[in-house]
Amino acid sequence: MEHKDVVILGAGAAGMMCAMTAAKRGRSVLLIDHADAPGEKIRISGGGRCNFTNVHAGPKNFISANPHFAKSALARYTPQDFIALVRRHNIDFHEKALGQLFCDGSSRQIITMLMTEMLQDGVEVRLSTDLQSISKNDGGFVVSTSKGDIQCGSLVVATGGKSIPKMGATGFAYQIAANFGLAVTETRPALVPLTLDPNNLEKLSPLSGIAIDVEVFHGKNSFREAMLFTHRGLSGPAILQISSYWREGDDITIHFQPETDFLAVLKACRQANGRQQVQTALQTLLPKRFAQYMVEEAALTAPLAELNDKALTAFANRLTAFKLRPAGSEGYRTAEVTLGGISTGDLDSRSMMAKAVPGLYFIGECVDVTGWLGGYNFQWAWASGYAAGLEA
Ligand code: FDA
Repeated sequence: MEHKDVVILGAGAAGMMCAMTAAKRGRSVLLIDHADAPGEKIRISGGGRCNFTNVHAGPKNFISANPHFAKSALARYTPQDFIALVRRHNIDFHEKALGQLFCDGSSRQIITMLMTEMLQDGVEVRLSTDLQSISKNDGGFVVSTSKGDIQCGSLVVATGGKSIPKMGATGFAYQIAANFGLAVTETRPALVPLTLDPNNLEKLSPLSGIAIDVEVFHGKNSFREAMLFTHRGLSGPAILQISSYWREGDDITIHFQPETDFLAVLKACRQANGRQQVQTALQTLLPKRFAQYMVEEAALTAPLAELNDKALTAFANRLTAFKLRPAGSEGYRTAEVTLGGISTGDLDSRSMMAKAVPGLYFIGECVDVTGWLGGYNFQWAWASGYAAGLEA
């Protein structure tokens, strides 16, 4: 039977980082994937430019049953480490908003960089290979595939989560974990557009295509970014972010254009020109169709002079604390990531190894560590892949 020191399942971001790290230590490494190409999610990420890290990435940007779990790996492989790698490969990049780093060119450059690193250190990459079964023996693990069986001392599972099944996501890692007796926390689509019930959709879908700067709140969490009305409900970065915290039956609260003091503006307009309609006053501040919707919804048809402070305050409050109850989400079909996953309680935070199964590692999205939108999920993939690569 073929023998390798390390077999890694899944040639995504985490798997490739782990493979190159282990190979640099002199380990013989085989990387297996059922897809025809490595790093397909890297390719489509960041609108084709890959938001490959976030300079501000820290434990606070991740959701997990154990918020401390990610600390060790994130500290050992930082955004600066990945930036140094990108620089060594002469890949130009830029910072967009909020510390997010994107390639100037194509995200394929990141895949090429990882492939170059892996191949120069002798990693064997076996694509279009189906995984059939995994078993444990005295020598470690036997991985049975459509291209034969492999014996390995260390087995690293990096097959990602359930998001975008069309691209080959299978949730296979959770199955392996369960087979080896590891706990898996509830999984759900995250960083995903939210949908509306038919009643709200009828009212809001005419606004489809309008983007507004908002701060969106759920409980004690809030995100200040753009929001987009869609023909299914709500999307845009602010909504994707809050979707990771929102649960069915909960409201979200939206503060439209937080930098604008709507009450002060409306009072000033009333003083300057009392005959002006509220909608006209708002049109300079907000997209016209949205302003029209808000005014019609509040039935504020009188000119400003006829509206007292109480009426204007009530209307301004609608714009600063607009409550909405999403019906659901678009699900794994469009979710960027899977929330939840392999319980961190069963993994060693330094190496990502299963505490009860020496030699078995889980890295990347399949672990119950989920980043915010903005390059954090790749940083977790790099950091957890590196942590396992140093030990496997
Ligand atoms: P990943 O999913 O990348 O890799 C898993 C690999 O395992 C795949 O190659 C798959 O084919 C393989 N596999 C799965 N099941 C298998 C099986 N049964 N047998 C064999 N192989 C199997 N993040 C970020 O930080 N910045 C960004 O810009 C974006 N943008 C973005 C856009 C879109 C559209 C999506 C869907 C996601 C993002 N993300 C992102 C999230 C990011 O892509 C994600 O967090 C990482 O790809 C996770 O890396 P992993 O290596 O864990 O899994």
